[in-house]
Amino acid sequence: MHLLPIGLQLLALALLSLQSQYPFDRGTCNVSVDVDKYIRFERRVATAAIVANIGPQGAKARGVKAGVVVASPSKHEPDYFYSWTRDSSLVFKLLIDQHALYNDAILRQHIDNFIGAQAVIQNLASPSGGLFTGGLGEPKFNVDLTAFHGPWGRPQRDGPALRSTAMITYANWLIDNKNITHVQSTLWPLIKLDLDYVATNWNQTSFDLWEEVSSSSFFTAVVQHRALREGANLASKLQRVSYNYGKPADNILCFMQSFWNPSGPYMTANTGGDRSGIDLNTVLASIHTYDIAAGCDAITFQPCSDRAIANLFAYVKAFDMYKINDGVEDYFSTGRYPEDVYYGGNPWYLATFAVAEQLYDSLHVWNTEGFLQITPLSLPFFRQFDPTADPGCHFNTSRKFVTLTSRILEYADSYLLLAARYTPQDGALAEQYDRDTGTPVGARDLTWSYAAALTAFNARDGTGGKSWGAKGLIVPDVCRRGGGPSVKVSFNVFAKTVHGENIYITGSSTELTNWNPEDALILSPEYYPTWSITIDLPANSDIEYKYIRKHKGNVAWQSGLNNRMTTHTGGNATRSDTWWRSEF
Ligand SMILES: *[C@@H]1O[C@H](CO)[C@@H](O)[C@H](O)[C@H]1NC(C)=O
Ligand SMILES: *[C@@H]1O[C@H](CO)[C@@H](O)[C@H](O)[C@H]1NC(C)=O
Ligand SMILES: *[C@@H]1O[C@H](CO)[C@@H](O)[C@H](O)[C@H]1NC(C)=O
Ligand SMILES: *[C@@H]1O[C@H](CO)[C@@H](O)[C@H](O)[C@H]1NC(C)=O
Ligand SMILES: *[C@@H]1O[C@H](CO)[C@@H](O)[C@H](O)[C@H]1NC(C)=O
Repeated sequence: MHLLPIGLQLLALALLSLQSQYPFDRGTCNVSVDVDKYIRFERRVATAAIVANIGPQGAKARGVKAGVVVASPSKHEPDYFYSWTRDSSLVFKLLIDQHALYNDAILRQHIDNFIGAQAVIQNLASPSGGLFTGGLGEPKFNVDLTAFHGPWGRPQRDGPALRSTAMITYANWLIDNKNITHVQSTLWPLIKLDLDYVATNWNQTSFDLWEEVSSSSFFTAVVQHRALREGANLASKLQRVSYNYGKPADNILCFMQSFWNPSGPYMTANTGGDRSGIDLNTVLASIHTYDIAAGCDAITFQPCSDRAIANLFAYVKAFDMYKINDGVEDYFSTGRYPEDVYYGGNPWYLATFAVAEQLYDSLHVWNTEGFLQITPLSLPFFRQFDPTADPGCHFNTSRKFVTLTSRILEYADSYLLLAARYTPQDGALAEQYDRDTGTPVGARDLTWSYAAALTAFNARDGTGGKSWGAKGLIVPDVCRRGGGPSVKVSFNVFAKTVHGENIYITGSSTELTNWNPEDALILSPEYYPTWSITIDLPANSDIEYKYIRKHKGNVAWQSGLNNRMTTHTGGNATRSDTWWRSEF
């Protein structure tokens, strides 16, 4: 059934109104058989349930604009009848991947609707600001595509990154299918807005994905890093060579390393929040930036890296306090973070699926590469499955490899069976299940829960992890911050111009628009023929820049080598340059 295109599955559902139920009480005591059964059942339910939450025709999305995903149909206690950029983008990333697998026309329409809705959302003036003044960081919107003006934890800077990742995935598919025109005309302008926002704002504080802690968040940094990398690749495919997203991406990659807590050992979720830092945030970061080509790379926190494996081990262990985990030895139902008190602090379906997904991704890499490496960091995780496991490389020809991978597969499958055990008979997935009794809690039919089920199932099939550019990255020697001390630099250039011609500046830092002539900063002609502008630049940085002239749609760059300067802490600087000839 799951091989049918998604639209046909829906049609089948609608026409035949299949009412099959999953008989949890009649398992076969064979983990692999029971998991297959659950997947066959839940894949169909989840697929239909996601589309039911999308406007304009979704059965549970009445009055919702086309392409808008409601977080949940629940309108009170809790009221989730809104659209979050994060949730919608994760859901559409999944649908875009499904579309690439099955090339389904109904799904294509949903995706195009989503793009259209996001084009409206990007332009809304919200409490976070307007299009160019911070509005892209607004986390949630009304389902009729208007801004939400109530108090909220804003901004949340993972949204634009996740949205651009979804759109870039679609753009790459369109390019592979010879529809570059649509990418150039419709997708790229939207993607560029999000990427520019990320490149400019990544080093500002943000509310985390749970909308509670305002600081810097690992998940946010990691998805921003991915978006900029694949954005840079797309820009070069489209021959938009002037965009330099690589530089801020390098800086984020640096910043990501600072979240590692070696004495945990685990990845700390947020710089603020006053908690242990153990958080599903980090597991989601890993699975949503999985790149099959990157192997078990630790700096990008790939699912099978020793850091991510050690982190998963610490994360799971932190949830032994739930009553439903009593008597369970090693596979605990998990929640967002151990200190959680929302609805009393419960396991979440999407958390349970995420644990399985990280392990399926890992198994896929180990099996593809033909070996598995254990380091002292990841050893405690592997010792659960084989008390004699030791650090070292285990090739697929060895008994150890076979034993470990088959036990880890069974362990991952046990997580799907946990989800199965707490899935009601109709297959509906709420947000949480009760920590004492296992009954569903919180928002019903949470779209993200269904998406998390499907991405875990796909990971088990080994269809995830399409490469986005994580391979072969290195952490730069010097991590330059975007938010540290800054200095004011006045740029003055003596340049004669003709009527209607203006002078701009662009250069090698975010503040200088990363060599992007379209966004170059205009200078003031107040002291003509000297043009001037004063800009805040990061202190202690090597900066390169050039002036450009724009006249009647023509752009001319200052010829010769780039101008260079170094900024110093506490030292405001003035640059006096000369550009003698107009090149028009
Ligand atoms: C479980 O079922 C699978 C598939 O039918 C089979 O290959 C495997 O041997 C079974 N495992 C056990 C422990 O019976
Ligand atoms: C390109 O994709 C868009 C969006 O789905 C579609 O409207 C358009 O017809 C496609 N163009 C071609 C030539 O296939
Ligand atoms: C900005 O980046 C620097 C360097 O990586 C880091 O130390 C600092 O915490 C970051 N600040 C924010 C708010 O992200
Ligand atoms: C081991 O891995 C190699 C490299 O991926 C692969 O070619 C080979 O078929 C694998 N062997 C087994 C027994 O799985
Ligand atoms: C740099 O310029 C700012 C704003 O003009 C001023 O407040 C500051 O005192 C100056 N710093 C130095 C070291 O001149």
